[in-house]
Amino acid sequence: MDKIKFKLNGVEKEFFGDKCQSAKVFLRNQGILSMREGCDGDGNCGLCNIILDGQTVNSCLLLVGQIEGREIYTVEFFSDKKKIDTLQEAMILAGVIQCGYCSPSIYLALKTLLDNVEKPTREDISDALSSILCRCTGYEQMYDVIDIYKKLLAGEKIERANSEKEMRVIGKSVCKIDSPKLVKGEKAFVEDFVASDACFLKVLGSPHASAYVTKIDVSKAEKLPGVVYILTHENSPKTVYGRSGQSYPEPSPYDRRLIGQKVYHEGDRVAAVVAESLEIAEKAIELIEVEYEVLKPVVTLEDAMSGEILVHGGPVYFKDGNLRGYEEHNAKADPRETPIFWNFPIGGDQRTNMVAKTGGKMGDVELAFSKSDAIIEREYRTKKVHCCPSEPHVCYTEIVDGRLVVHASTQVPGHARRIISSILGISENKIRVIKEAVGGGFGVKQDVLMEDLASYLTWITGKSIYYRYSREEEFIAATSRHDMKIKVKLGANKDGKLNAIQMNVYSNTGAFGNHCMTVSKNSCAVPLPLFNVENIKFDIDIFYSNLPNAGAYRGYGAPQGTYALMTCIAELAKEIGVDYLDILRKNTVRSGDAMELLAQMAEVGKGSAEIIESCGLIDTIEKAAKMIDWRNKKESGKPHIKVGQGVAIVQQKSGIPNVDTGNAIIKQLNDGTFIVHMGGTDLGTGMNTIAVQAVSEHLKLDMDKIHIIAADTDNTPFDVGAYASSGTHFSIGAVLNASKKMENKMLESASFYMNEPKEDLKLVYPMKIVGKNSEMSYADLAFKTQSGKGCGQLIANANFTTHLHAFPYATHICEVEVNTNTGEVNVTKYYAIHDCGVPMNPVLAKGQIFGAVIQSIGHSLYEEMIFDKDGHMLNANFMDYKVAKIKDIPKDFRVEFVETYEDKEEYGPRKSVGELSINGASPAIATAIHDAVGVWIREWPFTPEKILKELGKI
Ligand code: FES
Ligand code: FES
Repeated sequence: MDKIKFKLNGVEKEFFGDKCQSAKVFLRNQGILSMREGCDGDGNCGLCNIILDGQTVNSCLLLVGQIEGREIYTVEFFSDKKKIDTLQEAMILAGVIQCGYCSPSIYLALKTLLDNVEKPTREDISDALSSILCRCTGYEQMYDVIDIYKKLLAGEKIERANSEKEMRVIGKSVCKIDSPKLVKGEKAFVEDFVASDACFLKVLGSPHASAYVTKIDVSKAEKLPGVVYILTHENSPKTVYGRSGQSYPEPSPYDRRLIGQKVYHEGDRVAAVVAESLEIAEKAIELIEVEYEVLKPVVTLEDAMSGEILVHGGPVYFKDGNLRGYEEHNAKADPRETPIFWNFPIGGDQRTNMVAKTGGKMGDVELAFSKSDAIIEREYRTKKVHCCPSEPHVCYTEIVDGRLVVHASTQVPGHARRIISSILGISENKIRVIKEAVGGGFGVKQDVLMEDLASYLTWITGKSIYYRYSREEEFIAATSRHDMKIKVKLGANKDGKLNAIQMNVYSNTGAFGNHCMTVSKNSCAVPLPLFNVENIKFDIDIFYSNLPNAGAYRGYGAPQGTYALMTCIAELAKEIGVDYLDILRKNTVRSGDAMELLAQMAEVGKGSAEIIESCGLIDTIEKAAKMIDWRNKKESGKPHIKVGQGVAIVQQKSGIPNVDTGNAIIKQLNDGTFIVHMGGTDLGTGMNTIAVQAVSEHLKLDMDKIHIIAADTDNTPFDVGAYASSGTHFSIGAVLNASKKMENKMLESASFYMNEPKEDLKLVYPMKIVGKNSEMSYADLAFKTQSGKGCGQLIANANFTTHLHAFPYATHICEVEVNTNTGEVNVTKYYAIHDCGVPMNPVLAKGQIFGAVIQSIGHSLYEEMIFDKDGHMLNANFMDYKVAKIKDIPKDFRVEFVETYEDKEEYGPRKSVGELSINGASPAIATAIHDAVGVWIREWPFTPEKILKELGKI
């Protein structure tokens, strides 16, 4: 042990410790929690910032010996428990705190900048934040922080975006209620709740993409002092289950065990070690001896489609007992394989690797093609990309009062409880899942990828267990976007009127079938209803392979299909000589259109035709065209820099009609204030804030008189979770319904006490019930109802379901510069114009859109999970897998809204924003590249190499 002296947050400290230990780990052990971790300490995320002698540095890159004698400041120094400082306030007002995992680092970087530069420019801000990864915000609003900060110091008014609709709280850019806690680096994330005596869980992942474990010897590892338990296929439960966080009965197959004898992808579980420290667990992993029978893996979509090598050779069963012709296959199945269990058939044939098959049609496409003036057929490829949340998957499991408590970074606490219950064989009332702050989800945390294993091991050992993926594990053991091959055929008249659309999608689900059918179906189900076309046909085939599991990722299949369909329409426009925007204008849906196609589009089962109640799409097109001055681009003046404009129209849904459900409970307290219990899961998007805004608006009181408890299975009602863009529509819908019920109960009770008819009473801000002759305060009402003669505490609960899609629409338009010497593409302008009904909180909505656009620019230009022929991922770290940082965003980057209203919706249609914003960049950039240099890039990502190839330069 060495003696180490340094100044920490203004106080001289003296510690005994190991000088060769990581400074970050050392400081966290001293209770400094604000340093986060997103990259396994290789210096590529910038989330572990501290100020060292006046400069921000990554604490993970320092050893304890290097901080000796020096001065360190962390966010804790600048944070008062009860107050926030002015810079923190400016960050909150700018809307840059979404999940908040990066916020302490961003704060320290801006603070250091302000200490050194009096009037920072955009360039200075970019430099200061250049090393910090924020996967949520898209960075653009970070440029507003300094401006707001200066105004706050000068006592000036801060102008904030508000909805055009006149309301007191909804539609206003109020501050996100959890922002202060997040920016101050206080306890919020799973990692902050781990007890000092917790055990650690580490998994031995398979080095092979496909293999049988023929022998496994854990005896040496078990003898290591501090090892608590080792799980392998030999002592793992045989339960077969699925990890998709979807409503039961899931359309995804149950196709895995906790640990099976066959491994289906690189990183698949071979053994799991519980030990008293991470170091011991890692050492034990090294001592496990394994022999494999290595199999030839199925790596590409084409290999999977050929069916020559079976990915899953296990027996296939259906819930209803009907084997559907699998008798012979099952009889021959290798017992070392994991069986596949279906809740109901979804058209696949596991004897050919096809996990699912779906499709739909309307009209007669063949006849329509035969009558068309122009027909075009093209094929597009999208690649496997990763959500890359700043916080990797993490959970902490413990036994409390004989029950299992799971602290999770999850989008689906309700589904997690159900899945854990089935694996452990215990009833759901013995399990509590608490969603802690989530450091970015984007779909990858819609699956129960680690809570299954940690829960089982806690349940059988009785130990508290902390389990966290490394960044490499996050890439190969978590889920990613399905790679797809999409064929599009279009038939049109000379004037650009589309007669027929046919799409054939081939999708790679990887080793397991999480969301296989539903994600892949959305590649057609989301973009096709953008168009008023009478003849449509789509077919979707989904295949297993030995790549890491695909799953849910923001957009849920729509980015792939939107890219293919929109680019093909642009190609058609070019061929027939009609302006692309004119084709869009001619064919898009409008308010009042009857959408017969929707009957074919349900994720599960039969859907129904629907009238589009509000559609601002055409307005978003016109606004976007005006903003960019469509077809009037200015050339760069340099012969090798070509400028191009591109555009795409996009949509998504707002939850899943007839499947999703949200629930909420509102309780009135003794002083008339309220507590809201909402099942909905806030991933940093601001849903809790919007819920409080909704209650504040409807029940006529200030937001600080409302407290919200959300996404804790013991304390909140069931909600399907945060996915499918359902939050604002479903979860907030439930909160609004509960508010209406509470209003009704309050008026009924007040009528009795005020001796006036209920119809003559109304709620009046702030916290009054006013009649024709008298009034009473909420506090008085609460006191009376809760006294011995009252009706009891007023509690209202409500549910929200719907059969309607509440489609949000948008137009994304951009300008790019293509360097014809290098093939590089620079997106210089990007404007996203959205119809989300009435934006409930415009600053938060904009943040969602900026963030999604930057993720999709990444998918379009540089993000790609690269595998070798044996199925090994070659770039499973942030050094080799590039994600956007602040210097990668467009110089001119804007988000605007076109508001739409519906009579039946008092506060405006609550359409989603978070997912559809990721659908636009690929087709917009692809069409802009063509406009610039005349080539079509039909495969993600649009790398310089592909562009130079198309230009004939290499
Ligand atoms: S954890 Fe330190 S830079 Fe990523
Ligand atoms: S808000 Fe920056 S990582 Fe989530």
